[in-house]
Amino acid sequence: MAKKVSKKSKVKKVLPPTPHRAGIKPPKLDAKQIPNHVAIVMDGNGRWAKQRGLARTAGHEAGEKALVDIVHGAIEIGVKELSVYAFSTENWRRSPEEVKFLMGFNRQVIHNRRDELNGLGIKIRWVGREKKLWASVLNELKEAEQLTKNNKVLTLNMCINYGGRAEMLDAAVAIAKDAVRKKIKPDALSEKSISKYLYAPSMSDVDLFLRSSGEQRTSNFLMWQSAYAEMVFMDVLWPDADRRTLWKAIETYAERERRFGKA
Ligand code: IPE
Ligand code: IPE
Ligand code: MG
Repeated sequence: MAKKVSKKSKVKKVLPPTPHRAGIKPPKLDAKQIPNHVAIVMDGNGRWAKQRGLARTAGHEAGEKALVDIVHGAIEIGVKELSVYAFSTENWRRSPEEVKFLMGFNRQVIHNRRDELNGLGIKIRWVGREKKLWASVLNELKEAEQLTKNNKVLTLNMCINYGGRAEMLDAAVAIAKDAVRKKIKPDALSEKSISKYLYAPSMSDVDLFLRSSGEQRTSNFLMWQSAYAEMVFMDVLWPDADRRTLWKAIETYAERERRFGKA
């Protein structure tokens, strides 16, 4: 009897996502209309702050709750993988003050939210380039990865110091090195084997690519993985986004005809 209890207590309890505060439910769609992998360019924090006469950093701070709400909403509707662009390899071009803020802020968000995300059964994964990334941010990401590694509800790819070209360049360098070492035969390379050299080899192809702020560009996000993604651009600034923004984009996605080159 005692044995049974101790075995039971080992099973980790997964908490359900918190419902929308006004009780709004996700749209009713068939499972096949739900994108498996959603990638989000969380854009418009600076403009949101400017509209309010605030510093750009206040916009970044206000974006945290949008992200958390969307994570809950992603689980509710049945998305299995979510990639969020939090800092690009091009964002180093911003002022030293903003870069410093963003590094510290990302570290803080991961630290403060990891237990909540873990409770929801989310697997956190860092996707990006190590070079230049603050060691303290990397440590925080590694801890969150370790804590959440066995979770199955949703994979959350935190793309920090990520760039699509950087990812392909790093893959090309690694492939070239393996070829020189005769670990691979250049003629045997395939799209599948190239994927193994990307930052997160098990990442699935992006189904829905969503960008807030009204800008209609990808800004170097998940180039390889988004080759056949459906693009949805939303006219909302990131701090004003919430799970309804995601659900609306998914409704648009559900109406699209995906052909993958077939007639
Ligand atoms: C997105 O918001 C956040 C990051 C790029 C880190 P922005 O800071 O780009 O906001 P806008 O585009 O200037 O409004
Ligand atoms: C893309 O947004 C990067 C992130 C959201 C982290 P940017 O605001 O940096 O992109 P551009 O400069 O408008 O292309
Ligand atoms: Mg921007």
